[in-house]
Amino acid sequence: MCGIVGYVGPGSTLDVLLGGLKRLEYRGYDSAGISVIDPDLGLQTRKRAGKLQVLVDYLNESPLEDAHIGIGHTRWATHGAPTDGNAHPHLGGDGLKLSLIHNGIIENFSELKAELLAQGVNFSSETDSEVAAHLVARAYDETKDLKAAFVSVVNRLHGAFTLLCIHEDYQDLILAARRNSPLVIGLGDNENFLGSDVAAFVEHTKRAVSVGQDQIVELRSDSVKISTFHGESVELDEFTVDWDATSASKGGWPSFMAKEIADQPQAVGDTLMGRLDSDGRVKLDEFAGLEKLSEVTRIIITACGTAAYAGEVAKYAIEKWAKIPVSVELAHEFRYRDPVIDENTLILAISQSGETMDTLMAIRYAKEQGAKVLSICNTQGATLARESDATIYTHAGPEVAVASTKAFTAQITAGLLVALSLGWLRKALPEAQLTDLGKELLKLPRQVKNVLESLDRMRNLGREYSHAKSVLFLGRNVGYPIAMEGALKLKELAYIHAEGFAAGELKHGPIALIEAGQPVIVVVPSPKGEDSLHPKVISNIQEIKARGAKVIAIAEAGDQLVAQFADEVFSIPASHPMMAAVLSVIPLQTFALELASAKGLDVDQPRNLAKSVTVE
Ligand code: F6R
Repeated sequence: MCGIVGYVGPGSTLDVLLGGLKRLEYRGYDSAGISVIDPDLGLQTRKRAGKLQVLVDYLNESPLEDAHIGIGHTRWATHGAPTDGNAHPHLGGDGLKLSLIHNGIIENFSELKAELLAQGVNFSSETDSEVAAHLVARAYDETKDLKAAFVSVVNRLHGAFTLLCIHEDYQDLILAARRNSPLVIGLGDNENFLGSDVAAFVEHTKRAVSVGQDQIVELRSDSVKISTFHGESVELDEFTVDWDATSASKGGWPSFMAKEIADQPQAVGDTLMGRLDSDGRVKLDEFAGLEKLSEVTRIIITACGTAAYAGEVAKYAIEKWAKIPVSVELAHEFRYRDPVIDENTLILAISQSGETMDTLMAIRYAKEQGAKVLSICNTQGATLARESDATIYTHAGPEVAVASTKAFTAQITAGLLVALSLGWLRKALPEAQLTDLGKELLKLPRQVKNVLESLDRMRNLGREYSHAKSVLFLGRNVGYPIAMEGALKLKELAYIHAEGFAAGELKHGPIALIEAGQPVIVVVPSPKGEDSLHPKVISNIQEIKARGAKVIAIAEAGDQLVAQFADEVFSIPASHPMMAAVLSVIPLQTFALELASAKGLDVDQPRNLAKSVTVE
């Protein structure tokens, strides 16, 4: 939550800050602000409640001279409503010469605020963040050493924070601190950058350095120093960003979400690339980071939201192909119920951002209990990757729309690769079967492309149902998490009641919801195979039709039976049942996108949400 960006160098600070905030707006969009140090006028700040565009309009009315150092913030409110006053940056000190931005939650802010109030400090916001600005400014007024002042305050704060701080007396220094919230450095030529993630500066440099837990950064135009909160210096851990800057732009699409849905053949293809040979043999070099993988007795997949649904699909595949027991745990529930874990438990954490606080807390807990952690992550330099024993990157590229689409299908793809790889390692299935599965996986990017080429009817259906008050989703086996994902997309984007059910659960309660005209989207399994659940789902369709439901079926091309019972059938290419999870979610993403667009809603930035949930 909240995006932060910093720049020091000879370029246009305003361009870097506003461009960076634009690309970080997915992290929060209820207010935005920037501070720069003007060589003549000193510290200058502009901030406004509302989306970034409100700040841009305000800067047109009340312009700033460009400068060579500055910080910017886009907010997702935690303490205090989204108002101009609560927007960051927050200022402190005599003459308000210090500016500070914060991402996270300062848990002990009440006692610190009481201390400052007792000393006569006036507050101009209700935020927890403002205490940090006043504390650093007051410590600086005493010591006249900005770094010493900053470090002393950082050591007093509890909770989660990335802080960036500039002071008028230092025209070439940004100080930053990181605990439990993300921060990445961008290295330029005589210029340097800071951002919540690499998207903030990928347009300017691909050289990046990740910042570890409890570390302080001193960023100047020609140098970068990292030290711990206790003063020990830290070596820079540089990496090259493989994201293409243009992939973080809409590229002519009406929304990022529409573009990201269309990006899926590439996201899936890039995730498979180099990991499967043409004979269907899988090789995950990343497994080298995990000792004793063959001794693992069970796997716990942990994640939140959409990523947890990708984990549910991975569960079916790992159990079927590698014969290892798997459970999927929402990270926030898992962490706080004393789960039983030992050194033979493998944790598989899944996260697009790699910064979801609940997921990070879950892996930290599991590591303390001796478990090894493998992660599936989309963002280089993310905390999850730093803290995992091994990471499989989904190469989906930057996902800007708040509702996850291409990251989800890439996560499923990576989960299927993990399952297959474990199958090889454990010799859980005959080789021929494993290579056949690998060959099926190789077909996936092409099949995804075919689905994308046939979405017109689904788009129309989304628009036709734009007045629906509620939509239900049913599925079985891997279709069940897909049904839940379809419902989540609709809740997030269209703000209507939507629920996903396991179709087998219908008669245990949910069927009471069915009344005349109730739209139900059913993910129908392939009719092929002896153990196909197709006949059971067809029966479910008949049961809800008998009670007046309007049924839209997502079914395999050539499924004759479903057409007899459903009101509408959207066909997906015939594929292996496990891979059908990827294909069948695409029409559901499209349905939600179109329905929400028809209601005139902002599909990239739905209300109340932020893409990266970096607080608990
Ligand atoms: C929904 C969505 C969220 C995220 C969840 C986890 O569209 O995007 O449910 O999946 O917040 O985020 P990551 O994957 O970044 O850990």
